[in-house]
Amino acid sequence: MVFGAILAGGIGSRMRMEGPPKQFLMLGAKPVFIHSVEVFLSCAAISEVYLGVHPLWLEHAQDLLMRYASKPGEVKLAPGGADRSQTLFNVIDMATSSHELNEDSIIVTHDAVRPFVTESIILENISHARQFGACNTVIPAIDTIIESFDGKETHNVPLRKNMYQVQTPQSFNIVKLMGLYAQLSDKQKLELTDACSIFTYSSEKVALAAGDPMNFKITTELDYRIAQSLIASV
Ligand code: CTP
Repeated sequence: MVFGAILAGGIGSRMRMEGPPKQFLMLGAKPVFIHSVEVFLSCAAISEVYLGVHPLWLEHAQDLLMRYASKPGEVKLAPGGADRSQTLFNVIDMATSSHELNEDSIIVTHDAVRPFVTESIILENISHARQFGACNTVIPAIDTIIESFDGKETHNVPLRKNMYQVQTPQSFNIVKLMGLYAQLSDKQKLELTDACSIFTYSSEKVALAAGDPMNFKITTELDYRIAQSLIASV
C-alpha cells in the first residue's frame, strides 16, 4: 500500500508576509497546498492521502479542503509536529493506527509548498522506494555551492558536477524507515533535519529520482510571486 503524506505543518517564517502561512495563500483558483493535494489525489498508485497541518491551522485547512479540493473526504488530517520530520512521524502514526504495515508499505512525503509536483515524479519515487527502500528527488545544482563554517570565508568548494539540490517527494519503505529511526542515538534524532538522513546515518542507500526546476519550493515572497506568474501564464 502506498500512502501520500503532504507536509503542511510549517508556519512559513521566511516568507515575512502578513496573513496565514504560505501553504494557505491563494495560487490561481485554489490555495497553494490544494495544488499538491490534487496531484496526489489523482495519482492512482496512491491509496490514501494524509495532510499534516499545524494544530492551530487544522480547522482552517479543513475549511479550505471542503471549499477547494475535488475529493475533500479522501484527505485525512494529522496534527503537525515541532519540525518537518515530526509532522511526518505524526502522519505515519495516524496511518499505522488504521493499517497494518508490511514490507510493501511505502510513504511518499511531499512539501505542501511545492505546488508544481507532477505524477511522473511521484511514480519514479514509488518505484525507487520499492526497489531501494528510500528515494530523494533532486535536480543538478546550477550554481557552484561552497561550504563555509562561519559565513565569512570559503572553506570548501565541492565539484559542482557532484552537487544536487534536494526537492520533494522523498519516499520510504515505512518498516525500514521506522526500524532505522529506532536505531539512531538521541543526538542523531535531535540533529535530524531530513528524513533521508535516517538512511544515510545508517549507510543505507537512498536512490535519486529526477526532479524538475518547476517543482520549486515557495519559501520567500519572491517565490510566491514567481508561482503566481507561472499559474497565470498557463
Ligand atoms: N513543515 C511541516 N511541519 C513543520 C515544519 C514544516 O510539515 N513543523 C512543512 C511546511 O509546511 C512545508 C515543508 O515542510 O510545506 C517545507 O518546509 P519549509 O518551507 O521550510 O516551511 P516552513 O517551516 O513553513 O517555512 P520557514 O522555514 O520559512 O518557517
